[in-house]
Amino acid sequence: MLLRARLCLAVATVFPTLANAAGIRIINGFERVYIQPFGTNGVRVRSSLMRDPTGTELSALYDPPIEGPGGNQGLSFDTELGVQGSGQFINGDLLVSVQGGRLFFYRRESNGTDTLLTSEYADTKALPSRFYTQDFRASSFQAAFSFTSDPDEQFYGMGQQACCRDDSVNKKGQVIDLINFNSQVPIPVYMSNKGYLQFFNMPGQGQIEFSQRRTRFVASEANVVDYFLTTAAPGNYDALQQQYTGVTGRQPTPPDFILGYQQSKLRYWNQSQVIDVAQRFHDEKVNVSLIVVDFFNWKYQGDWSFDPEFWPDPAGMAAQVKELTGAEMMVSLWPSVEDLSVNYLSLQRGGMLATTRDGTGVQDSFAGVYIRLVDSTNPAAREFLWKRLNDSYFSIGIHNFWIDQADGGSLGEPLLNNGQPINILPYARTFTQYFSGTQEATGKLYPWFHQAAIDEGLHNLTNSKSTTSCEYMSLTRSTFAGGQRYCSYLWSGDTSSEFSTLAQQITVGVSVSASGISSWTLDIGGFDGLNVDSDAGRELFVRWFAMGVFLPYTRVHGSRGCNITGANVPFGNNCPNEPWAYGDENFVILKEYITLRYQLIPYVKKLFQMLQATGRTIMRPLYYDFSSSDDNVVNGTRANDPSIIHEYMFGPRILVAPVTEANVASKVVYLPCLPDSLLEQGLSWTHWWTDVEFGQGGAFVHVNAGLGEIPVFYLGTKQDIFSGNI
Ligand SMILES: *[C@@H]1O[C@H](CO)[C@@H](O)[C@H](O)[C@H]1NC(C)=O
Ligand SMILES: *[C@@H]1O[C@H](CO)[C@@H](O)[C@H](O)[C@H]1NC(C)=O
Ligand SMILES: *[C@@H]1O[C@H](CO)[C@@H](O)[C@H](O)[C@H]1NC(C)=O
Ligand SMILES: *[C@@H]1O[C@H](CO)[C@@H](O)[C@H](O)[C@H]1NC(C)=O
Ligand SMILES: *[C@@H]1O[C@H](CO)[C@@H](O)[C@H](O)[C@H]1NC(C)=O
Ligand SMILES: *[C@@H]1O[C@H](CO)[C@@H](O)[C@H](O)[C@H]1NC(C)=O
Ligand SMILES: *[C@@H]1O[C@H](CO)[C@@H](O)[C@H](O)[C@H]1NC(C)=O
Repeated sequence: MLLRARLCLAVATVFPTLANAAGIRIINGFERVYIQPFGTNGVRVRSSLMRDPTGTELSALYDPPIEGPGGNQGLSFDTELGVQGSGQFINGDLLVSVQGGRLFFYRRESNGTDTLLTSEYADTKALPSRFYTQDFRASSFQAAFSFTSDPDEQFYGMGQQACCRDDSVNKKGQVIDLINFNSQVPIPVYMSNKGYLQFFNMPGQGQIEFSQRRTRFVASEANVVDYFLTTAAPGNYDALQQQYTGVTGRQPTPPDFILGYQQSKLRYWNQSQVIDVAQRFHDEKVNVSLIVVDFFNWKYQGDWSFDPEFWPDPAGMAAQVKELTGAEMMVSLWPSVEDLSVNYLSLQRGGMLATTRDGTGVQDSFAGVYIRLVDSTNPAAREFLWKRLNDSYFSIGIHNFWIDQADGGSLGEPLLNNGQPINILPYARTFTQYFSGTQEATGKLYPWFHQAAIDEGLHNLTNSKSTTSCEYMSLTRSTFAGGQRYCSYLWSGDTSSEFSTLAQQITVGVSVSASGISSWTLDIGGFDGLNVDSDAGRELFVRWFAMGVFLPYTRVHGSRGCNITGANVPFGNNCPNEPWAYGDENFVILKEYITLRYQLIPYVKKLFQMLQATGRTIMRPLYYDFSSSDDNVVNGTRANDPSIIHEYMFGPRILVAPVTEANVASKVVYLPCLPDSLLEQGLSWTHWWTDVEFGQGGAFVHVNAGLGEIPVFYLGTKQDIFSGNI
């Protein structure tokens, strides 16, 4: 049976202005819609069928919000409307108006006029703007909600699209699949150049379609459609981020050490290799802050402990690494559990494994065995997992964790089996079911709850109740909205080692940052396909490394090729990935970049403090700072012009234009026109390597770009930058 809610077209009317604190309820037969003021200049809308929302649905919103009005108000309202009803309320600069049952969102301007931002979409022959399909197997339904959009409107954010050769900042015209897997971390939040941000507080699968006149959010399975909208002056993206993180959470500041150089590869498979690497960093006098042990440090998937055959004394190893280099360590964990794991029976007995709709409980295979997934959406499983991580790693001096493959659904890929020896899984696509609900309805919370497990575990063990700073961190391949509240950082997953991917990482990074997740990094060098012993591979690595110096975290990782062969252990790879492995001349350059990174730490630390205080984005697409002063930036962003979208601001003072081509010695860089606020401070663009002044912007300039000289420009003085005095 198909059940549809339909709303009639409304004629826009002039409405009296009437502040209303509690909100509006629309009762439309079986449909009910709750519209409440929420956060600064914000509104929360919840719609459900046949029954009220419970108010206890899984949510990324803080209720009450961290900042701004609203919250703690349950489903309260003070205006009730019928199907064709009209009413409105104001929250700060936002006017929410229901006209003939249809929702409109306006910004109140300082001169007293109202600017329409968006409204529920209506046309003479269109599906209703709030469209539901229900099959009555449960209380859940599918929903498709449509909103008006201008043909030339621009949309930014939507999380991390590292797949599909996407290389865009403006998402208008795209269809984005809301399903997480390796490198694909869609977050249903976007900012419009008209000065609003819209966030669908729903962790399920679906799509967002940014079409010419209509933006449509499609949910595959939901019990409630729940969204948040907030407004600020057009171009004030920092305000939108402040308001959004004011309802979804703020990044706690990371510990200082993790802002240094992070050494990782696929993979150090025994402890003497790790100690040898630490010894070499010590001998070469190269700073390193974190050394990482990758997957299959365990014997069986789901053990969450070292295999003693290769790691006879991990406590001694961690102590020696610390003594030689001062570095902390990080270890990988996967969510997969195989039958032979020491933990399998306890997890199974305790109901702490995810299951499947077909009942087998097998979600995938890897390394020749079937695997199940630990169900971290279940609090008991989180506690169990943390206990194992504590016993095996934390308590012996390895304090940082790498949450890999926990993207949800299967083992983190868009396909099953990952090309592994069990080539055909004799089951249908698994339809994973969690404690939290189905993969379709709640899957994006699977990685999120892994972050939560480690966050909570670290807080419990270190007795640190601070929610604004971190002693240790987790690294994660996936997350959801609000993931920025955890002591965690995201990286862009398994990327290919190609220049085109390096270029794409810029738009990936600025887009996920514009989605509230500034705590972000990547695999320097790309994950797969780089030959350490080839000239081309070495060049690509140095170019990528240079960009990595100007990211929130500087992290080298990857599966490398090289002239050495033969590594007789599972997933072993003999090829090196340390700075000295890329040739003597390059080693000199890489050492200089590492030194520069350590000089930049006070600046990076300051950026994280600003992020924590107000949600101020760290890796900034040019439209953030130059929309008001430079039409070229506006137009170039609209068209996704590489000369604009392949540059970014790293904090308020540094412009970075990575070299994204092989065999070049110079680069043309666009310097945006500085806005009045910066001109008033007497600032102008200065070239990082020569300290030559290039003026106030609005021009393409040609600069040398040798391997050791990534095109970078700064504002103000280097002294201020190096001291974090910004
Ligand atoms: C009021 O302010 C808005 C935003 O600055 C502007 O677009 C609009 O033209 C102004 N209207 C009047 C009547 O001044
Ligand atoms: C670690 O692996 C290396 C090969 O890279 C080998 O030479 C060494 O003996 C191994 N050490 C241990 C403790 O297994
Ligand atoms: C942290 O401690 C709380 C309170 O004792 C407990 O409920 C929770 O399960 C612990 N979390 C983890 C991940 O161990
Ligand atoms: C963590 O490990 C330490 C050392 O073994 C132990 O004393 C403590 O009880 C453990 N805590 C948890 C939550 O497992
Ligand atoms: C790696 O092997 C290739 C092919 O034999 C050779 O040309 C190259 O010089 C080698 N590189 C190094 C660094 O040994
Ligand atoms: C290494 O890091 C320390 C701070 O941890 C810094 O004082 C020192 O200058 C760095 N050395 C180099 C060569 O980068
Ligand atoms: C930007 O685009 C607008 C509208 O198409 C056009 O009028 C304007 O000249 C363009 N500006 C620049 C600097 O290209």
